Order: sequence, then structure tokens, then C-alpha cells
Amino acid sequence: MKILVIGSGGREHALVWKINQSPLVRKIYCAPGNAGTSEIAENISIESTDIKSLADFARENSVDLTVVGPELPLTLGIVNEFERQGLRIFGPTKEASEIEGSKVFAKDIMKKYGIPTAQYEYFDSPDKVKDYILQQAQDYTPLVIKADGLAAGKGVIICHTRDEVIRAVDSIMVQRVFGSAGEKVIIEEYLRGEEVSFMAFSDGEDIVPLATTQDHKQIYDDDRGPNTGGMGAYSPAPIITETLNRYIIETIMKPLVLGMKKEGRCYKGILYAGLIIVNGKPFVLEFNCRFGDPEIQPILVRMKNDIVSIMMSAVEGRLKGEEIQWYNEASVCVVMAAEGYPDIYERGKEIKGLDEAKKIENLVIFHAGTDKKNSRVITNGGRVLGVTSLGADIKDAIERAYRGVKTISWEGVYYRNDIGRKAFSRLKP
Ligand code: AMP
Ligand code: GLY
Repeated sequence: MKILVIGSGGREHALVWKINQSPLVRKIYCAPGNAGTSEIAENISIESTDIKSLADFARENSVDLTVVGPELPLTLGIVNEFERQGLRIFGPTKEASEIEGSKVFAKDIMKKYGIPTAQYEYFDSPDKVKDYILQQAQDYTPLVIKADGLAAGKGVIICHTRDEVIRAVDSIMVQRVFGSAGEKVIIEEYLRGEEVSFMAFSDGEDIVPLATTQDHKQIYDDDRGPNTGGMGAYSPAPIITETLNRYIIETIMKPLVLGMKKEGRCYKGILYAGLIIVNGKPFVLEFNCRFGDPEIQPILVRMKNDIVSIMMSAVEGRLKGEEIQWYNEASVCVVMAAEGYPDIYERGKEIKGLDEAKKIENLVIFHAGTDKKNSRVITNGGRVLGVTSLGADIKDAIERAYRGVKTISWEGVYYRNDIGRKAFSRLKP
């Protein structure tokens, strides 16, 4: 088979790496890819949102399966266009991707199908929000304000006072700092708990869950500072017990997939639930229509199955009865980022120590924002590498991942020092 992977992050390098292990595959393309994907796949310089050129490429090169990494091409309708042209593609349609593309749509569908989520109201004008706020008690617990559409993970503001709510609404709805995502806002009850990411393959009817994982969203150690795309992840996540795992599948993942089918928005691809566990009970903070990044990196190094075969089953509606086998070892991915991320950062710094780090056993270095210049690897993004290890247990995996991290350097490198510590402390007697 010939496979085309769309995207250029750590998620896409991890997918290319895993797809390359499939006996079904003889050629992989990645559009546009990064320095890491270029070592396994042929990078094609087409942007991930240029749907027409991607479809032309897939047709002209007889690609058997296209795998979409990021959300934007999905919400723009890449799956609809490929299917219209009879091209096989893994991912949800534009209508199904609205589960990530519109928070209002996601909240309404959760409410309709009884999926646990925070209480909410939504508003289409700043004046209505102000009226609502004035009716609330003065000393409330925090409120969460969310812009309606895609906002690169930044459209959520947690407010502690009325003034903060009014300022947040002003920046989202009046100044339009997130563009058209600010046409509507959601005001949501604040939930206090621990966040986890839960993913499953879906064929529109049946689901096959992935291993459990936990991301580290904030930029600084001990979950301080602003949110990022994710600074590291590990698998399995001991906070998800067997019982909780079953509960999440039965009360969140299956009802959502069946609900989407009833709505005429058949959901095929990866369904990602961003959950918060409050006193042992899971609530959905958001759904995403794709693999989590970095979460998929530690997950894929634990996966025994051929991922291409599972993706084909999802596309063709044959997931029933399928199961994924996992290595018992624990895995950890530490993201190495450019200083200044998630705000302003520099690119073009030469990365040193990659060959040395590659010699460490059970360590894979997934590239995210990297490029090649005169056969040297340079930084080309905020999140630069995902150093991913497999270890006998979480402690071993943490130690190995950081051994890799410390072997690699560039001017202005930044990473968190506490990835995986939460899991480790939970396992301690
Ligand atoms: P979202 O994009 O909706 O997942 O929100 C981004 C981040 O904001 C989440 O990962 C949480 O850290 C935080 N957040 C969102 N909604 C809530 C909520 N209702 N209560 C507490 N924190 C929240
Ligand atoms: N790591 C969070 C996400 O992929 O949305």
C-alpha cells in the first residue's frame, strides 16, 4: 500500500514511524512533513490545508490510504472531498469534525445524549453576557469563558471576577482576538480535578479504545503558566482504573459515536475526549476530532498491532471485535520546545546531539518543528522534538527519556522537568 500522512508535527512523525512498521505498506508520503518524517517517508511540499492539491497528489500517485493529522483540514472538509473523488481517507467528515470545530455544537450534543460535562450557557452578544453576569452572585467560584470555534488551544479563559469575565468577553467578541471563533461564547461552570486524554478509533458505530494517557498542558513545572499544545505525556495513566476506563467507554465514547450517527454525522476516525476527573467521575471538557499531540507519541511506542490494518477497519466499518494489544512497559514523551513558546520564539537553531541520543536503547526521537538545512537539523517551530522512551515502569521510562533530552541541545532549548511525575507519585505505596 501507499500511504499519505498529512501534517508536520510530532504526531505525524509518530504516525509515519508506526505506519512504516506495517507489512502492508511499501511507500509513505508526508505532506508537508518535517526533518524526522523525511528519514522514513518522502516529504511532499503541499500545505495540510491545500485540499485540492492533496487530492490531486493522492490520485496521481495512486495513494491507497490518506491519514489526516491536524484538525484544520478535517474541519475544512478534506474527508468529504477525498470521498467525493473515491479516495480512501482516515478521519471524520466536515460535519462530524464539528465536534471539535464548534464548542456550542459539542456542548449541545453532549447535553442531548446525556454525556457528563460542565453546566453551560451560550451567548451571541457581549451585552447578553453582561446582563447574565450581573444576575450572578458576586462571589462565585471561577467561570470559564470559551470562544466557539478553533482558536489553537487558546480560546479558553478562566475568570475569577466579574471584571475578568467582561474583559474576556470584550477581547473575544468585540476585539475578535480569535477571529470568527468569537461570534459566540460559552460560559461554563469551573470544574476542579485532574485532566486526562482518552482516545478511541471509531468506524461510525463501534469503537476501539487506545491506551490511557495524560498530557501536561501548562508550560512550566507543576502545571504552572499558560496552556500550550502539550509539553509531554505518558502512558498508561494510572488515574484511569479498569472500572473508570469501562465507565468512560460506556457513558462518554459510545454514546457520542451513536449520537453522531443519529444526527446524520457518522463519526469515523479518532475520537479524542479531553476529560477532567472530579472526585473519581469523568466530565468532558472538549472533544477533538484527531489524535492528541503529544499523547499519541507515548501511545504508539506501546502499541503491538499494525495501525494500518486498524485504520482500514475503521474506514470500512469493520471495527467490531477488534482489540489493540499493548506492551506492558510504560512510556514517556518529553517535549523539547523553543524558549518563548507558546508565545514568541526563534527558529533556525542547529540541533546538536541527535545521533548520540539515537543510540540510547528504547528511545525514539520524534520531530515536530524541525527542518533540514545543508544536511543539518534546525529548529522550525515552538514544539521541536518529542523524546519518547519505553521503560520497565514509569520511573525507568522517565529516567530514559530525560537521558535522551539531556543529550540533545540547541541555543534556547526549553523543556519541563516533571513529565510523568504525577503517574509515578500515584503508584508509590
Ligand atoms: P478546552 O479547549 O475546552 O479543553 O479547554 C482548554 C483548557 O482549559 C482545558 O484543558 C482545561 O485546563 C481548562 N478548562 C476548560 N474548561 C474547563 C472547565 N469547565 N473547568 C476547569 N477548567 C477548564
Ligand atoms: N495535547 C492536546 C491536544 O492534542 O489537543
